[in-house]
Amino acid sequence: MPLTEQRDELIKKWLKEAAEEIKESLKHELEVETKSRKNDLVTQMDRKIEENFVSKIKEHFPEDLIVSEEGFGDHVKESDFEKNTVWFLDPIDGTLNFVLQNENYAVMLAVYEKGIGKQAYIYDVTHNRLYWAIKGNGVYCNDQPLPKMKDLPLEEGLFASNSMFLSDQQVSFNTEITKRAMGVRTIGSAGLESIELVKGNTLAYVSYGLKPWDIAPGLILVRENGGVVTNFDGSPVNILDTSPTIMATPTAQREITNLL
Ligand code: 2AM
Ligand code: CA
Repeated sequence: MPLTEQRDELIKKWLKEAAEEIKESLKHELEVETKSRKNDLVTQMDRKIEENFVSKIKEHFPEDLIVSEEGFGDHVKESDFEKNTVWFLDPIDGTLNFVLQNENYAVMLAVYEKGIGKQAYIYDVTHNRLYWAIKGNGVYCNDQPLPKMKDLPLEEGLFASNSMFLSDQQVSFNTEITKRAMGVRTIGSAGLESIELVKGNTLAYVSYGLKPWDIAPGLILVRENGGVVTNFDGSPVNILDTSPTIMATPTAQREITNLL
C-alpha cells in the first residue's frame, strides 16, 4: 500500500479513537488549567490526546518529526521541515469552546513531506464530521467530496475573524469590512473557520496570529479547494512562524490585503 494511503488509514482510525475518548471525557468534569492568560486554557484531554497521537506516530513512523501544541512533539527547525516528513498536531483546537461550550472544537492533523502539504484532517467531533484531503484528490467530509469554492468578492458573503477584530487596533479596516461584507462571524476555532471557508459558508477568515498547528491542516484544505492563504501583505505564509493570516477566496484575499 502506498505510504500516503497507509498513513490515511491509520490517521482515520486514531482520530475515531480520540473522538470517542473526548466524548467520554465530557460526561465528567474537565480538569482545566490556565497557560499564558486567563483565556488560554489546557485540559487533561488536550494533553492526553496529544500524548497518545505522538506515541502512535513515533511507533509507526519513527523517522518523522512532530510539531504539536502541548509539548510532546519535537523542536522542528526550518531546515528539518524542508528535509523531513513533519506531522502537525493540535489535539483540541478551540479549547476555550471545548471547556465553555462542549462544542465548536476540532482534533487536527496534517502531514507535510519536505515542506509540502500532503494530507490534512480536521475532525469536528461534536457532529462526527471528518474533513480531510490528500493533496490533488479534493476535499471530503466523511465519504462525500465537497464542491470547489466559488471565487466570490466580500460583498457576496460573510467575513470571519478571531476576536481581535473587535479590538480597536484596526478601526478603519473593521469599519470597511463591516460595510462591505454581508455579515461578520467568529467561531473561536481556526480549524473550524477554515472548514467554513472551504464549504463556502464564509468567504474569508482573518486571524491576527496563528500557530503552526492552528494553520497547517486548514492551509492544505483551503488551497486544495480553490482558496488562498497568505500573510496580511499578501506574501506566502511560513507555517513554522506565528503570523497574522488571511484565508480567503482569491478575490476576497486581494480585497482584504488592499484594506489592511
Ligand atoms: P487553540 O484553541 O488550539 O489554542 C481562537 O481564536 C483560535 O486561535 C483557536 O483556533 C485557538 O487555538 C487559536 N489561538 C488561541 N490563542 C492563540 C495564540 N495565543 N496564538 C495563536 N493562536 C491562538
Ligand atoms: Ca489546541
